[in-house]
Amino acid sequence: MCGIVGIVGKEPVADRLVDALKRLEYRGYDSAGVATIHEGHLARRRAEGKLVNLARKLAADPLPGNVGIAHTRWATHGAPNETNAHPHIVDGVAVVHNGIIENFSELKERLLAEGVTFETQTDTEVVGQLIARNLRAGMGRREAMQAMLKEITGAYALAVIFADDPSTIMAARSGPPLAIGFGDGETYLGSDAIALAPLTNEITYLVDGDWAVIGREGAFIFDHEGNRMERPRQITQAAAYFVDKGNHRHFMEKEIHEQPEVVSHALAHYVDLGNHTVDPAATGLIDFSSLRGLAISACGTAYLSGLIGKYWFERYARLPVEIDVASEFRYREIPLSADQAALFISQSGETADTLASLRYCREAGLKIGAVVNVKESTIARESDAIFPILAGPEIGVASTKAFTCQLTVLASLAIAAGRARGTISEAEEKQLIKSLAEMPRLMNAVLNTIEPQIEALARELSRYKDVLYLGRGTSYPLAMEGALKLKEISYIHAEGYAAGELKHGPIALIDENMPVIVIAPHDRFFEKTVSNMQEVAARGGKIIFVTDEKGAAASKLPTMATITLPNVAEIVSPMIYSLPIQLLAYHTAVFMGTDVDQPRNLAKSVTVE
Ligand code: F6R
Repeated sequence: MCGIVGIVGKEPVADRLVDALKRLEYRGYDSAGVATIHEGHLARRRAEGKLVNLARKLAADPLPGNVGIAHTRWATHGAPNETNAHPHIVDGVAVVHNGIIENFSELKERLLAEGVTFETQTDTEVVGQLIARNLRAGMGRREAMQAMLKEITGAYALAVIFADDPSTIMAARSGPPLAIGFGDGETYLGSDAIALAPLTNEITYLVDGDWAVIGREGAFIFDHEGNRMERPRQITQAAAYFVDKGNHRHFMEKEIHEQPEVVSHALAHYVDLGNHTVDPAATGLIDFSSLRGLAISACGTAYLSGLIGKYWFERYARLPVEIDVASEFRYREIPLSADQAALFISQSGETADTLASLRYCREAGLKIGAVVNVKESTIARESDAIFPILAGPEIGVASTKAFTCQLTVLASLAIAAGRARGTISEAEEKQLIKSLAEMPRLMNAVLNTIEPQIEALARELSRYKDVLYLGRGTSYPLAMEGALKLKEISYIHAEGYAAGELKHGPIALIDENMPVIVIAPHDRFFEKTVSNMQEVAARGGKIIFVTDEKGAAASKLPTMATITLPNVAEIVSPMIYSLPIQLLAYHTAVFMGTDVDQPRNLAKSVTVE
């Protein structure tokens, strides 16, 4: 959360900094700001809200200066207003920060006792105040920076400039990623390679604990103790990631419609579509044959894909799966041993809780696999085995195509694990992969037919304040995903429940004001789910029935709407049934006029706990 960029340049930098920030807006959009060094002074523009507000300010009141830092914010400490917007300036020191300074209250109290006054409610301001205090005490700039780093604890990526040093940015990393980019007589700093893509493709990632002094001709990197470190430079492919909305109104709409294509890329990477077998080169990076168990940890939508993966690993590979949301997993003190492996699922590959769970499992000696979209991410780099989901850049804050690509990868791995453990036969493997191979075509067919009905239904749904989603088997995590999608972009309260749990509590909520979306393919759970629907109907509840042709023919219950999908094999139903739930959330949000791609209070990459 929060995006950082910096340029030590030959020409004015403000416009280029804003351009780079556009590529980081997925990290937060509560406020944005830029500071530059000009004629021995720090100049700054900041604006509340999205980057466009800052761009307008800069157009009206341009900022000179060839060295600068910039920030787009997802608020943690302090309201999302202009005063709390970064950069923060204290006595000729400007700071931008991504992360949380955990001991900031204690440091602030100490500084207040020393007579320092604070302008903002942010944790970040203590960084500027500490450096300024160190400078007042007679330290040089590097010394002041290093002494500050020794005082703060927590997660941070920092960039600092000094009014009296017109050719340097200092940076530090402990947790959130930070990359230095090398240009022709210019050097850059960014939260990720994508931010730097228009400027350079040659980058170095700082390692946790590193800090750096960046000048026009390159950078000196130091570890926490101040020892000079050499970090490898790499050529990134990030420039290829530049994306636009095409003919779509929103990135989310585009990404929903990209799914037939991207899942086919993911599938082609993991299976041999000619022979209908898993591809050992892609799936064999973890030896599933002798594992005692698998631990899966992730957050949000990625967690829900992992939950569906659990059903598959247990069913097809008879492999016990321990799964939890990463923020709980790491603190549960789960007994783990080296005969288990762990999978971490993350679109961004930067989610702080998921990364912390990974490190917890690493300490326990488990083999670590990462199911990620961003192959250069921290989670990928800290894993033994990388399983790319190949979804391409996902810009909409609400995850769609990453979810179905994660499912595609997990299904392939579960089949591979089943073969490795001898729990499914060659014939079953072929059958399962034939079913997966049908997925892109089926997705296309669904996307080409259901949208007008869903758009009309979305208008109706937008009148309600609460919605319940029900499902059994893999449709249960999908019910939770449907509820998550609806609440995050339409702001309608929604919950996903296991259909069998209905009568253990939530049934008390059922009345004509609470639509119930029942996800029920005609599978081995169908009859039972229909019984639960009956319980809803008997209490005057309004049902939106998401089923297949067989299911629609079999149920005679009155519904508010029935969305009929093709009959599909059980292993592909989560991917196919994702489409109506994503579209329903999308069209409801569009109808309600919310900011679909950047819903309030959210950020695409959550790099704080
Ligand atoms: C919801 C959504 C989030 C993310 C979660 C994890 O639509 O996108 O719930 O799934 O923040 O993010 P990653 O996958 O980047 O670790």
